[in-house]
Amino acid sequence: HPQLTVDPTCGLMLEGVALNAIADSVGTPCWVLGAGTLRARMQRMHTAMSNAGLDVSIHYAVKANDHLAILTLIGQEGFGADIVSGGELARALKAGIPADHIVFSGVGKTDAELEQAISHGIGQINVESAEELEAISAIASKLGKQATITLRVNPDVDAKTHAKITTGLAANKFGIPFQDAAALYAHAFTLPGVRPVGFATHIGSQILTTAPYRAAYARVAELVHTVRAAGNAVSVVDCGGGLGICYRNETEGQPEALAGAIKAELGGLGVKLAIEPGRWPIGPAGVLLSSVILRKAQGMDVPFLVLDTAMNELLRPSMYDAWHGILPLAPQAFSQPVSLTHVVGPVCESGDTFARDRLLPPLARNARIALLDTGAYGAVMSSTYNSRPLAAEVLVEDGQWQVIRQRQSVEELWQDETVPSHLAKAT
Ligand code: LLP
Repeated sequence: HPQLTVDPTCGLMLEGVALNAIADSVGTPCWVLGAGTLRARMQRMHTAMSNAGLDVSIHYAVKANDHLAILTLIGQEGFGADIVSGGELARALKAGIPADHIVFSGVGKTDAELEQAISHGIGQINVESAEELEAISAIASKLGKQATITLRVNPDVDAKTHAKITTGLAANKFGIPFQDAAALYAHAFTLPGVRPVGFATHIGSQILTTAPYRAAYARVAELVHTVRAAGNAVSVVDCGGGLGICYRNETEGQPEALAGAIKAELGGLGVKLAIEPGRWPIGPAGVLLSSVILRKAQGMDVPFLVLDTAMNELLRPSMYDAWHGILPLAPQAFSQPVSLTHVVGPVCESGDTFARDRLLPPLARNARIALLDTGAYGAVMSSTYNSRPLAAEVLVEDGQWQVIRQRQSVEELWQDETVPSHLAKAT
């Protein structure tokens, strides 16, 4: 984590900014994102692809972190977006990402979302079923347009990742079964509202080795040869996202190795390539700051550290048993002896647990910690469960920081709720 350093007087810093200073001013819980880390990692991906001699468009997967500031930065760096809903499309457009740099993925797109996408002239729609293909053609025809499409194929390849984030197995809901793809592609050319350009695949997330990628891309290459032999043109292959990061002690996925896998399997096809990374560029750019509410030790074999952040902010540990690093913010804590600690949130569920048996220094009430690698699938997966307002967000860049999302007020929690008048009268 080159973005994280420990200063002997200021404690933990992100991109040279003291996290304690942010917490003093904004309070906790608070998400902090490092723009420099995000930019550097996006550029590393871009460089890896061009150094391999590949013509690859990079479409950032908006779902990983959809903050307007992040999308604006992504657009300014010249990258496109991969979206999965009308809301994400609206955000990407609002952030200034041109419609023709936007790709629409997802297993269920509503009529309204498809209309919105097609009328804005979206770059490409990745079609996930025969049924959806018909719907897109009908909607585009009605609008007097043709939608540029690829077929997302399910290559039936095991990405060897957590079951809840695996998408490329035949048993998963995603994509068109491999054996149906060639015939459906040929059929697409007969439909008036679509312009078929190629194939897409995405086999899962937090993938750490290239073997599953190579297996998936080899199948896509086979498909390209099959449909070309049948006389149908292919000019695009979208290679999906999924490159994994280091949360604990894993060797993080390497963009250069991904570029190598793409080149080896797809490099000779003469197609325009694309990738859709979400977690890799932004995951390590973010931390979640929290304060200790109390250390519950009496009568416990291992004490519980109860934080002021919970599963409603960071869902990943409860949902995927995900491991996130935890560091204290105070400088002196880094030289204190560590002991086993369970780290939990205050929400009324046993699943509201961030870590069990973690080695941590003694942290008393109001001591602060950072949960690491929370830039991706962090704030975006928050809820207000237990009437906990959404946390503040801060962006760090060039040694400066600023709030990019005010902490939600308690009143905002119910501002869209209505109490029917007959009930209101009774109270
Ligand atoms: N493209 C498609 C079609 C996707 O479904 C996804 C992620 C991506 C790209 C980006 O994948 P990435 O590069 O971020 O791995 N909430 C889970 C991760 C869910 C990923 C869903 N799809 C987590 O916190 O681990």
